[in-house]
Amino acid sequence: MPSNADALAMLYGRREGYSLPRAFYTDPDIYEMDLDNLFYREWLFAIPACEIPKTGNFVTLRIGAYPVLIVRGADGEIRAFHNVCRHRGGRICSAVKGSAPKLVCPYHQWTFELDGRLLYARDMGADFDAAAHGLKPVHCREAGGMVFVCVAETAPDFEPLGTELARFLAPHALNEGKVAFESTIVENGNWKLVIENNRECYHCGGNHPSLCRTFSDKPTITAPRDGVADDEVERHWQRCEAAGLPSRFLIHPTAQWRLARVPLLNNAESYTMDTKRGCAKPLGRMPFFDAGSLLFFHYPNSWNHFLGDHAVVFRVLPLSPTTTEVTTKWIVRKDAVEGVDYDLKRLTEVWLATNDEDRQVVEDNQAGINSPAYEPGPYSQLHEDGVIQFVDWYCDRTLLRLQPSEAVAAE
Ligand code: FES
Ligand SMILES: [Fe+2]
Repeated sequence: MPSNADALAMLYGRREGYSLPRAFYTDPDIYEMDLDNLFYREWLFAIPACEIPKTGNFVTLRIGAYPVLIVRGADGEIRAFHNVCRHRGGRICSAVKGSAPKLVCPYHQWTFELDGRLLYARDMGADFDAAAHGLKPVHCREAGGMVFVCVAETAPDFEPLGTELARFLAPHALNEGKVAFESTIVENGNWKLVIENNRECYHCGGNHPSLCRTFSDKPTITAPRDGVADDEVERHWQRCEAAGLPSRFLIHPTAQWRLARVPLLNNAESYTMDTKRGCAKPLGRMPFFDAGSLLFFHYPNSWNHFLGDHAVVFRVLPLSPTTTEVTTKWIVRKDAVEGVDYDLKRLTEVWLATNDEDRQVVEDNQAGINSPAYEPGPYSQLHEDGVIQFVDWYCDRTLLRLQPSEAVAAE
């Protein structure tokens, strides 16, 4: 059972460029530390805003111990609240999503306005102060059609992520889209293994036959070397930027997030088995279908692909030290008609297969790490620089949070 001091010692003692010591992937106390230091402190991607287009539409999610409710108000604003009744703590919305004119707690029917104000509480006496018993807000921001939440009392600065994300996503007009399909799976692996696996394509050739029809596993496609992009990528950026698509590789100085539009293989249009568009209507104002994929990751819980015809957004939420929920949503423009403009099987089969293949490698990775024989192993500098970057971010951020005096200076 490592204490904070033990965790600090392990972080200072870790071998850079190597996977983390076993406890970081297995230990319940480190898991709680990750929740306290990261998932309860950072902005987390929650939903695409187009999932709750109308007044009263809501979605719920669980961030560690915190049930959270996201709802669109009568004024069109999207707000997030702790999904905890101010009477005796009943959970107000138990469905994963739905629609309600008011938020009514099922226990004793205390009734809240969509903006969180308490409207009605039966027989609470003349002295009862309804205004003091509104739902507790959760920080909530939207950028480029993506909704982020933060359960910390004071949220980190949302800029410049908000500005850059809105700029890059503008042509995809996600707010004029709809969720065509979604899937939620539980992977039997620590959340960091899920993110680490996403941050490299060293495993793609051996594990993702359908994704590899369109997505290059060449490491220089997704990240420039020493600031210089591959010729093919440079040409792609020039073509896309000339057409008004922000594309050039952009990474935050802390490496917490990155945006970059990369070409797909052989001018593929989309992540489909035949490499052609999966939706006949372009997403938003995309000028051509072969625009590649705009890649966006944000630590600790999201990676995303925005294409010419659709977008795929991914949300990662830890459930326990060795289980992680991965939710994937496919977005097309809202006037696209299923069966006419897109076929759900064609649209989703590549990433459904890829997610399942990733689940398998993550679960096998966890099973190996559970062995006392596991010891941290070396990352490939060529293929796994993204993993090195994530693990460095994780360690740096955790160290800062475990040592508040240094954190003030660095955040
Ligand atoms: S706990 Fe919600 S009304 Fe009583
Ligand atoms: Fe993968």
